[in-house]
Amino acid sequence: MARVVLGIETSCDETGVALVDEDRRVLAETVRTQLDEHALYGGVVPEIAARAHVESLDRLVARVMAEAGLGFADLSAVAATAGPGLIGGLLVGLTTAKAICLVHGLPLIAVNHLEAHALTARLTDDVAFPYLLLLVSGGHCQLVEVNGVGSFRRLGSTVDDALGEAFDKVAKMLGLGFPGGPAVERAAASGDPARFDFPRPMLGRPGCSFSFSGLKTAVRQAILSMTPEEARAAVPDICASFQAAVAASVADRTVRGLRLFQERHPGVPASLVVAGGVAANAALREALRQLTAKRGVRLVVPPPRLCTDNGTMIAWAGMERLVLGQADPLDTPARARWPLDPAAEPALGGGGKGPKA
Ligand code: KG4
Ligand code: ZN
Repeated sequence: MARVVLGIETSCDETGVALVDEDRRVLAETVRTQLDEHALYGGVVPEIAARAHVESLDRLVARVMAEAGLGFADLSAVAATAGPGLIGGLLVGLTTAKAICLVHGLPLIAVNHLEAHALTARLTDDVAFPYLLLLVSGGHCQLVEVNGVGSFRRLGSTVDDALGEAFDKVAKMLGLGFPGGPAVERAAASGDPARFDFPRPMLGRPGCSFSFSGLKTAVRQAILSMTPEEARAAVPDICASFQAAVAASVADRTVRGLRLFQERHPGVPASLVVAGGVAANAALREALRQLTAKRGVRLVVPPPRLCTDNGTMIAWAGMERLVLGQADPLDTPARARWPLDPAAEPALGGGGKGPKA
């Protein structure tokens, strides 16, 4: 029988649980988002998140096991996110995984959440190493060379806000609610992307760093230059113009990342993998589609449900490590911070200060 891994994700505001087998089949999956619990506060409240994970995790684990018709004895390992993320939530998922492992004599796999985002494209599209990863989420914005399981080289990351964080802050300024990304995208659909000439951060600069705080400030100034009625009427145009600036900036950075990747791996057919919640954004996807098509690069974007936080990516990352014979001791700690590439210098200004950082 094919090996099966149970995956548990609790690093932020989604409780995700899934079962994946080594033939890349998703046997069962479920995600409970805590949007309603946090909406009142305009962001994720760590203590509320941890409690919500405690309240639903056991039930969700029982549900996916029943759906797949499996008992714990049928599992080959249990994988849980051990970091990076909000420490309270991480402890809930990791401790639950440890308890199941202890009782049923199973190996534990402590998964890096970012690595799970990075490896999802190998579950959905069987992408071979090495490839270039653009990770754009609520807590992260980086270009990473993925050379193998546990082997990453960061080419560049944000010096201030994560991209999802920038979307969320712009949405907040416009009164569009949380999470902001989908709301900004919806409003932008009927807007004019050329009305506001927002700056395209980092355009033409050497390297692969990102920056979004200047763009955010430009949006704030545009809003303040209008009367409240004018600003309300301009919401679609502001969102469309903001999205256009984001797409141009990210495309410019990604082209540089591809160039670096191709220099380091001459002759290897390049693949660009996009991951993280912001990968759901259609304007961004279109910009990436154009730049990869022009350069003969394969573009892989997992389906939206696997781009945002979920248990399936954790189960799959666990499977990748299990088939390599890797497992972790039961006293493995949760880690609020856990960079993919420990050799990379911390980005100027830190980056990733958002609710999901
Ligand atoms: O990967 P994710 O679910 O959580 C982590 O950060 O780990 O990403 C959530 C982020 C939020 O900031 C949300 O606003 C953004 O992804 N997002 C979007 C869209 N859907 C989600 N941003 C832009 N356009 C979207 N359609
Ligand atoms: Zn994530």
